[in-house]
Amino acid sequence: MKKRIGLLYGGKSAEHEVSLTTATAITKAIDFNKYEVIPIYITLDGEWCRGPQLTKPAETEEDLQFKKSESKPNHIIEFILDKDGNQAKFDVIFPLLHGTNGEDGTVQGLLEVLNLPYVGNGVLASSAGMDKVVMKQLFSVAGLKQVPFVYFIRYEWDRNKEELLSKCEKELQYPMFVKPANLGSSVGINKASNREELEEAIHIAFKYDRKVIIEQGIEAREIEMAVLGNNEPKVSVAGEIKPTTEFYDYESKYKDGSTSLVIPAEIPSEVEATMKDMAIRAFKILDCAGLVRADFFVRGEEVFINEVNTMPGFTPVSMYPLLWQNSGLSYPELIDKLIELAVERHNEKQQLQFNRE
Ligand SMILES: Nc1ncnc2c1ncn2[C@@H]1O[C@H](COP(=O)(O)OP(=O)(O)O)[C@@H](O)[C@H]1O
Ligand SMILES: [Mg+2]
Repeated sequence: MKKRIGLLYGGKSAEHEVSLTTATAITKAIDFNKYEVIPIYITLDGEWCRGPQLTKPAETEEDLQFKKSESKPNHIIEFILDKDGNQAKFDVIFPLLHGTNGEDGTVQGLLEVLNLPYVGNGVLASSAGMDKVVMKQLFSVAGLKQVPFVYFIRYEWDRNKEELLSKCEKELQYPMFVKPANLGSSVGINKASNREELEEAIHIAFKYDRKVIIEQGIEAREIEMAVLGNNEPKVSVAGEIKPTTEFYDYESKYKDGSTSLVIPAEIPSEVEATMKDMAIRAFKILDCAGLVRADFFVRGEEVFINEVNTMPGFTPVSMYPLLWQNSGLSYPELIDKLIELAVERHNEKQQLQFNRE
């Protein structure tokens, strides 16, 4: 029996286009002999549009951009439940969504309520991983080394600007990195080298979130590792990002190709061992499932964790799949493995008891 996979992509998010690229690539790599693939496109307006079953790879991204009028069901729940309310439609949902409303636990919550198996992280890991402050606090609990940081909400900022600027300057050194707590892809992130820039950067970050984090800047290499698994997560080789712009921003990450990836990264084996250990500890403290990309700053022999991404870039030329390819797992094999892990985790959950006997 073929497994019926719901590919969930697009999304009301700044990373809509990236998601479409990923979905197209997946249709090119997935084994149609093993899987029935049903595309579910979320438009930029947040409308869910289910397309017809795919029998061959999508040639272009446009092939996967269905319109509301072409879409059969017109309510989210109808995607999942058939007319009689029976749970029938999908064996596994494969969310390929980044950022808000996709990587932050909201879609995962919907799928939980519907009791559907889905690829990747659950509600807790997704939302904790999306909030840089919560993530860093958990990393501290796990004893993971990271750069010092300060954070506050807009309400506090509006009332105590001078005090908060002084706090940043007391606890951190310039340059500092100012970030909205809850966004990805470097949106709203700025580097500040003096008080004036700091104030401006905070002002910008507050356009995107009510909570802002300010980190001490570090001059370091950026090296990443991929983690794959549920209860016994495995770690890939390391990969280094070599940006050509001043820092790894949205343009260089997704658009102009001005970064190069070096896989495997040239690092001493002790540094690699430290990173592996930290990647696993990060995975466990956030209670991750399926996959995570762990991003580090490496300065000499010192390793600092920067963040984890619970739905890392997943096109065939993205770091996460490339790290596995260099560790002996091809893109199609990785897709199989993630689907398998989704089923495993779902089955584990079905064993739980929900009454009080
Ligand atoms: N504390 C820091 N020191 C030096 N560079 C940083 C720091 N924080 C972020 N950067 C640079 O900004 C980029 C984006 O920051 P990151 O926290 O990874 O945000 P995102 O979630 O958008 O990927 C990093 O990849 C790095 O190049
Ligand atoms: Mg990052």
